[in-house]
Amino acid sequence: MVLLQIYEFYSHIKLEINEYESIDYPYIYDSKTDILKKRILIIGASGQIGTELTLCLRKKYGNSKVIATDIREDDGTLSTDGPFEILDAMDYKATEDLIIRYEITEVYLLAAMLSATAEKFPMRAWDLNMTSLFNVLNLGKEQKVKKIFWPSSIAVFGPTTPKQHTPQKTIMEPSTVYGISKQTGERWCEYYHKKYDLDVRSIRYPGLISYKTAPGGGTTDYAVDIYHKAVKHQKYNCFLNQETTLPMMFIDDAIRATLSIMEAPKEAIKVRSSYNLSGLSFNPTEIAASIRKKLPDFEIGYTPDFRQKIADSWPQSIDDTAAQNDWAWKNETSLDKMTSIMLENLSS
Ligand SMILES: NC(=O)c1ccc[n+]([C@@H]2O[C@H](COP(=O)([O-])OP(=O)(O)OC[C@H]3O[C@@H](n4cnc5c(N)ncnc54)[C@H](O)[C@@H]3O)[C@@H](O)[C@H]2O)c1
Repeated sequence: MVLLQIYEFYSHIKLEINEYESIDYPYIYDSKTDILKKRILIIGASGQIGTELTLCLRKKYGNSKVIATDIREDDGTLSTDGPFEILDAMDYKATEDLIIRYEITEVYLLAAMLSATAEKFPMRAWDLNMTSLFNVLNLGKEQKVKKIFWPSSIAVFGPTTPKQHTPQKTIMEPSTVYGISKQTGERWCEYYHKKYDLDVRSIRYPGLISYKTAPGGGTTDYAVDIYHKAVKHQKYNCFLNQETTLPMMFIDDAIRATLSIMEAPKEAIKVRSSYNLSGLSFNPTEIAASIRKKLPDFEIGYTPDFRQKIADSWPQSIDDTAAQNDWAWKNETSLDKMTSIMLENLSS
């Protein structure tokens, strides 16, 4: 019944926004006026998620409406077809100025220090991950922006969390700096929503796999590196052991999830900390076997390093029933399909 109502509502809106017929994601609830006024700021846009998210949002809403920013100069990927600005996510005033200048309505905050790098620079990681979040939350509280997306991670879970089908609500005792920063961030997101009615939305991404941009120093990066070696017909030496099963997801699914949660009606978002999101679960042996279906001579070896301990503290699979129920989330890409796409794109 609820799904039927959602469908009827969507059909109605779709008729109203017929000039946006290129929109190919199913859950569009913004009014035509909201869509026309929409201006998106992406902070940390040059990274693994930001690059693909920026390109996808530009395709959907128009190049000029999506302002990509990063602390690094762009290599042409994001600055050729749309606005690109240098922005330090730690700089509140500079962020506020950009929001005012471009009449921003939504912010996607992707700047962060990821799990493996954060273990090397704990205080810098804490500083960046928390200061950047407080900056956008406070700009939201001051009503300078209407809606915020901030990603959390499976790193919010720890060694005492149930490892299989980890529930939405469960024991969370993260043992990494990155995980502690993400769990704290979740508490603050929920607090700003409850206290100031701030529309902040979040997903606990699993390890993400993509071919356009290199990953940025996470514990699941092996699942990208392995494809780069495979297409060069080289042996891959994995920094995790062969039994390390972790939750993972192909980038297209992660981007679709991000757009879906941001486009769902405000009332549908019942979890204001962060949603569990499940895609795939596999270990290095299984991804190697999937590669061998295409490249039978592919070889893998194992030399676990400090990242093994981080991986051992995380869940193996995730229960995302809440995301399925609240905003109709469903993963689409299987391990073998992802392998085909990765090998094809990295070979060309
Ligand atoms: N990639 C994954 O597997 C994964 C999984 C779970 C959660 N996440 C989360 O998603 C978000 C994006 O991750 P990603 O994989 O794209 O990271 P990434 O490291 O690839 O990209 C982060 C970007 O932020 C930029 N940046 C760093 N410091 C900055 C600063 N002070 N100001 C502005 N920009 C700055 C970097 O230059 C980089 O381009 C992060 O919050 C991360 O914790 C990612």
